Amino acid sequence: MNPFLQQAPIEGVKKIIAVGSGKGGVGKSTVAVNLAMALQKRGMKVGLLDADIYGPSIPRMLGALTAKPEVNDDKKIIPVTRYGVKTMSLGYLVEESQAAVWRGPMLFKAMDQFFRDVLWGELDYLIIDLPPGTGDVGLTMAQKVPVTGAIVVVTPQNIALADAKKAIDMFDRTNVRLLGIVENMSYYTSQTGEKVQLFPQGELDAYLDTKKIKKLAQLPFYPDIGMSAEAGVPVLESHSGDEEAEMFLRLADQVRDVSN
Ligand SMILES: Nc1ncnc2c1ncn2[C@@H]1O[C@H](COP(=O)(O)OP(=O)(O)OP(=O)(O)O)[C@@H](O)[C@H]1O
Ligand SMILES: [Mg+2]
Repeated sequence: MNPFLQQAPIEGVKKIIAVGSGKGGVGKSTVAVNLAMALQKRGMKVGLLDADIYGPSIPRMLGALTAKPEVNDDKKIIPVTRYGVKTMSLGYLVEESQAAVWRGPMLFKAMDQFFRDVLWGELDYLIIDLPPGTGDVGLTMAQKVPVTGAIVVVTPQNIALADAKKAIDMFDRTNVRLLGIVENMSYYTSQTGEKVQLFPQGELDAYLDTKKIKKLAQLPFYPDIGMSAEAGVPVLESHSGDEEAEMFLRLADQVRDVSN
């Protein structure tokens, strides 16, 4: 049986955007959270699903570590709303220290619940923060719901690019359209205004050119982004009007363009 036959839309949800990467720690969750926030600031109705069941970071990044979603009489899970964004994460359901080592059927079931048993309501966008790698979660997602498109986050060096290519391949194999990549932590601006490269610039641009893949944004390293994430207040909220926030609003506009 073709597993893709199980695919069904999520009621009320217009567009589903997945944020992935082959490599860990490149900034997927940061991009997912701030993209969701930025789309919301642009007047969209937005949901954010933390599908990183191995290391959920959305609850911490949104200051919702102690939040517990309610369940209604019909056994539907009510998402936790933070800063106007409806969120769901395995982190709300299990302790942060109990990194879930779920595979196969259990994982399938958890994903199914996220898609079918959460009362997402009417959403213009559901953003999905994927775990690193090209494992079961991404495949399960592609089998279960019609994903509008994927964004791959990558840092500039070749080590990250090698892994990003695997993620791009995975989306290709599962018929998920690649909307483009986000180059993250590309440089840092020193106090004297000099651009300092954090990672060696690899062959990312050449690769994107050859493959005709769009770069949706080039995001510099801003210490405040990390601090905001730790404090649970995203930069769209804490740094409204500053470049740290504006760059995510521009990314949101790009994403709206390419996901139409
Ligand atoms: N542009 C940026 N400027 C400053 N810090 C950043 C930026 N992007 C990400 N970070 C920081 O880098 C760290 C890793 O980011 P994040 O958790 O978003 O990565 P990830 O790809 O989701 O990781 P994982 O693979 O573990 O899920 C975090 O501490 C985050 O705050
Ligand atoms: Mg993450």
